[in-house]
Formats: sequence, structure tokens, C-alpha cells
Amino acid sequence: MPYKPDDLFHGAAPYYAKFRPGYPPQFFTELRKRFGLNGTQQVLDLGCGTGQIAIPLAPAVATVFAVDPDHDMLAEGKRSAADTDNIEWLRGDSSNLDSLNLPPLDAVIMGKSFHWTDRTALLSNLDTLIRPHGAVVVVTGELHDAAAAPPWDDVVTSLRAKYLGPRRRAGSGTYQRTEETHFDVLVRSPFHDVEILQWQWNLERDVDAIVGLQFSYSYSNPTQFGSEERCAAFADELRTALLSRYPTGVVTEPHTIEALIATRSSGYIGHLRHR
Ligand SMILES: C[S@@+](CC[C@H](N)C(=O)[O-])C[C@H]1O[C@@H](n2cnc3c(N)ncnc32)[C@H](O)[C@@H]1O
Repeated sequence: MPYKPDDLFHGAAPYYAKFRPGYPPQFFTELRKRFGLNGTQQVLDLGCGTGQIAIPLAPAVATVFAVDPDHDMLAEGKRSAADTDNIEWLRGDSSNLDSLNLPPLDAVIMGKSFHWTDRTALLSNLDTLIRPHGAVVVVTGELHDAAAAPPWDDVVTSLRAKYLGPRRRAGSGTYQRTEETHFDVLVRSPFHDVEILQWQWNLERDVDAIVGLQFSYSYSNPTQFGSEERCAAFADELRTALLSRYPTGVVTEPHTIEALIATRSSGYIGHLRHR
């Protein structure tokens, strides 16, 4: 695996829970309809973070196995879902799913986490864990063209380079952009019937939310700055720069998510492991 899974988001969890926008209700409605979710399904949310998918999905299924390598992400998720009793929060990652003793799964959903995994090896393992008519759902938030970047991106990028250098960090290492798209990796996997869905909406953020959001990323979480003083200095400078561009303190930005819904071909009988 190119990254050490529990090394990527140190210190990010409270910012993640507070400042990441999550997913629109239409996304969950689509999952309900498409998979006929009726409270009997077993679903894995892999790389669940603080529960942006697991928590809204839980009322529609029997169990969500919410798996993440980051202890603090799981703790935040558990706290937010204190009243929900059908989410199992489990520490783990894409490379050790077999040790989690999961039941046969109806769906595996990955929200902005597939890029952290060894995608081909993971899909081949999921082929043994997902029921014959089950699905893999890969959700991404940042689309690949520059047009999808938020309008304040240049302000943040130049200030981040000043504090953390020009290369995109990823935990204690550097981000390695992969040439092959998620779509292409899925198409050559056992889950090769792939449909693409998108949802777009406008998001309103104030300047403090934009500042807080930066501490939720693998490349600019609090640990990257080395000290509370440097975090505070970055936050102050960013707030000032944003307010000078957006004197009202509020920015409206277009937001898009994309879901790749991947299934096996319809005649598939399966080779699910017996447990
Ligand atoms: C960007 S967050 C996504 C959180 C949430 N799913 C969402 O949609 O907002 C990515 C999550 O993937 C987790 N992660 C990193 N490497 C992983 C791996 N190899 N297997 C599973 N999860 C991983 C991180 O700890 C982090 O919580």
C-alpha cells in the first residue's frame, strides 16, 4: 500500500466532523432505491472518517460496519452517533478486512477513501466479501478538472505553500497522484459494470469554515504545522487574506459529488467465502 493508513489524518478528526460538508439527501435516497434498502442489509463503510456516510445510512440497513484506521475519526463518529445502535465502529483498513470477521456484505461504500488504498488488491478481496448481487460504491468529492476547485483555492494554496512547501503532503509522506482513474480500475475488476452519478449544489461557507476545513485535510492537518503557534499563525493569515477577497465573510461555491456504482455482471453466481 502506498501510504501508512493511520498516519494520514493526525489531528484532523474534530475539524473533519465540523467542517466537511457531507453528502446531500438525494445521494442516500438513490442508495435506498437502487439497492432496495429495507433494514436487512449489511453494509461496509470503508474509510468512514467521522461517519459522513455511515450515520445517515444507518436507518436504512441492518448494520453499517464503519471501518477506519484513524482512532480519533472513529471516536468523533461514535460521539455523533451516540443514539444509533446499528453502527459498528471498527478500527481497520483496506489491507486487513479479513481480520474484522465481517458477515457477507450487500454493499461496500467508500467516501473519498478509495484513493488511499491499493485499489486493485482491495477490489479483488471485496470480491470474496460481497454477496453475488452486491455492489461497490466509490464516492469522490473533488473532481479532477481545475473548474471544480473552490473559488478561494488559489488563496489557500499559496499560503499553504509558504507554511508547508509546494509539494502536496500525505501524512508523513507525499501524495502520489495515480494515472489510472477510479472508473478504469473498477472496469477491469470483478465489479466491472460501472454507472456514474453526480449531484451538484451550492454550498455557503463563512471564512472560519474555510479556515477550519484546511485542518481536516491529510496535507494540512494540525500535525503538519508542527506546533499550535504555527497553526494559529496560518489560521490568522488565511482569515485575513480571505476577508480581503470576500469582505462579507461568506462565500458561495458550487459543490459536486460523484458516485461510481459498480456491480458484477448479471449472470454472476459468486464465490463468496463460507463463514
Ligand atoms: C477523506 S476521509 C473520508 C471520510 C468519509 N468517508 C467521508 O466521505 O467524508 C478518508 C478516510 O480514509 C481513511 N483511510 C486512509 N487510508 C485508508 C485505508 N487504506 N483503508 C481504509 N481507510 C483509509 C482515513 O483515515 C480517513 O478517515
